[in-house]
Amino acid sequence: DMQRTYAMIKPDGVRRQLTARILQRFIDKGYRVIGLKQLVIPRELAEQHYAEHRERPFFGELVDFITSGPVVAIALEGENVITGLRAMMGATNPKDAAPGTIRADHATTIGENVIHGSANEEDAARELGLFFGDAELLR
Ligand code: CMP
Repeated sequence: DMQRTYAMIKPDGVRRQLTARILQRFIDKGYRVIGLKQLVIPRELAEQHYAEHRERPFFGELVDFITSGPVVAIALEGENVITGLRAMMGATNPKDAAPGTIRADHATTIGENVIHGSANEEDAARELGLFFGDAELLR
């Protein structure tokens, strides 16, 4: 399936100069970067993005962290890119992430884990819509 997904380099990754390395991994994998922007996420947008986690005890921390500095928002297109991106990222907890994944190579804690990728088709469409307008994406 040709799919689109939403990837995001979190504030820890941007701060640590990992943006170019991570984008290169996507290109090397054969995915197309069809949207790209660096921004500081407004609190309200962060709460919408993480709406499914609203009841979790770490929700406040999560929103504080994701709004703590610039992120890089990325729209990716490719064959089965939704699960492919998740595989490249590795497990949420870097301690459990497989060797060679982005989180195994670059992340240290479950809260500051460098990268986000949409979990499924529904989240991908929703999250892409939160961060990009259609006219901002390559065709
Ligand atoms: P992600 O899967 O991108 O989106 C939800 C995030 O919640 C997840 O990454 C983690 O960074 C974060 N998260 C999950 N569990 C915890 C936790 N126990 N404490 C802090 N953050 C967490």
